[in-house]
Amino acid sequence: MPKHHVEKFLTEEEVDKKISEIGRIISKDYEGKKIHLVCVLRGGAFFMCELAKRITVPVSLDFMSVSSYGSGTESSGNIKIVKDLDDTLEGKDVIIVEDIIDSGRTLSRLMELLSSRKPNSLKLCTLLDKPDRRVVDVKVDYTCFEIPDEFVVGYGLDYDQMYRNLPYIGIVKFD
Ligand code: IMP
Ligand code: MG
Repeated sequence: MPKHHVEKFLTEEEVDKKISEIGRIISKDYEGKKIHLVCVLRGGAFFMCELAKRITVPVSLDFMSVSSYGSGTESSGNIKIVKDLDDTLEGKDVIIVEDIIDSGRTLSRLMELLSSRKPNSLKLCTLLDKPDRRVVDVKVDYTCFEIPDEFVVGYGLDYDQMYRNLPYIGIVKFD
């Protein structure tokens, strides 16, 4: 791992406040319905737990793992399903919960795949979005923060599997 340090970017309070806001909006949008949250592991797990706690309509959860990044900081362009969902999506109102959308490659493939499983509706919610990095167009329904083109860690996001447990979001600076 090259020499680097992590600079604080978004505090735990800022992130929590924003997740509460998004939770309220989602609860309103889905009034009278049930939501099936699909977490994209591993990065999305922290966000999904916090978000789920703030949604007031009934929620069920499922997890899926796809690989896109190797051990570096660049998207490979190929996604592989490492762990598929346990439950069917048929007839459900599904929200995919992601940690970050970067090139959009992972998400556009995933949306394609999941929409073929006939959910009643399929939306996308992300903690972070780096719009400047987009290569493939994806429609994001709920975004907590749009951020500049920097490599970020914390709140579930990793650099080579490190820093996921930081309670805030930091930027990796290479020394
Ligand atoms: P995409 O396919 O390029 O949109 O990549 C999305 C995935 O790459 C995310 O789900 C993350 O796992 C990872 N990723 C992209 N940017 C970052 C970052 O700044 N920090 C940590 N992981 C990232
Ligand atoms: Mg991810």
